[in-house]
Amino acid sequence: MRIDIISIFPGMFSGVFNESIIKRAREKGKVRIFTHDLRDYTSDKHRKVDDRPFGGGPGMVMQVEPIFKALAAVKKKIKGRCKVILLCPQGKKFDQACARRLSAEKNLIFICGHYEGVDERVREHLADEEISIGDYVLTGGELAAMVVTDSLVRLIPGVLGDKNSLNFESFEGNLLEYPQYSRPARFKSWAVPGVLVSGDHRKISAWRKAQALKRTGMRRPDLLKNKRNRKEQQ
Ligand SMILES: C[S@@+](CC[C@H](N)C(=O)[O-])C[C@H]1O[C@@H](n2cnc3c(N)ncnc32)[C@H](O)[C@@H]1O
Repeated sequence: MRIDIISIFPGMFSGVFNESIIKRAREKGKVRIFTHDLRDYTSDKHRKVDDRPFGGGPGMVMQVEPIFKALAAVKKKIKGRCKVILLCPQGKKFDQACARRLSAEKNLIFICGHYEGVDERVREHLADEEISIGDYVLTGGELAAMVVTDSLVRLIPGVLGDKNSLNFESFEGNLLEYPQYSRPARFKSWAVPGVLVSGDHRKISAWRKAQALKRTGMRRPDLLKNKRNRKEQQ
């Protein structure tokens, strides 16, 4: 997979993309990530990429022209189809299903907005999708692009050492994950549930399933309801 990110702060990405699992995924050639400075695509002598909103109002709006030029230049470097995603608080809310869908794409381009947002013509004519990472407003799209990239890169086959860690984690199959414990079996007076140290794998599996259901029912009943709704619709 190839990911290109267009931003006015490309330097923000180096820490996150050069550590941990993303770093290893890049080293293994599972993902190639390129950041592009939007200011390289403006014709303004001060490298300005924003202007005042038509009709008045507070703040500045990111202009369509530099984004158009940046996209055209990035697309020239990409072989084949690519999906252009605008990070935007008004977009579709990002979730695990979306991460899974995007992890199967060959090429993704993220556009990070700033200020009051981007000229509406970017969504109308240049973006294939708009993604929001939640119902809150960030100062820019960079953190959102990092969140989306992180969650989809770990789903690319071969990125995680043990592919089973993906099968049982939260949101896969609409359940939260069961509680996890590690050594020691007793710390102070806090003991791990006996079944986990019993060695009986059938019982452990049944316990985990029951815990996942109970936990989801208590913390995220909406996930169970969504699953039931989907079943009823089938
Ligand atoms: C300050 S926000 C603009 C908010 C805009 N005025 C509005 O009310 O919808 C600037 C940029 O941050 C990014 N951003 C902010 N919140 C986001 C979110 N929840 N998800 C994804 N991107 C977000 C977008 O790229 C956006 O263009």
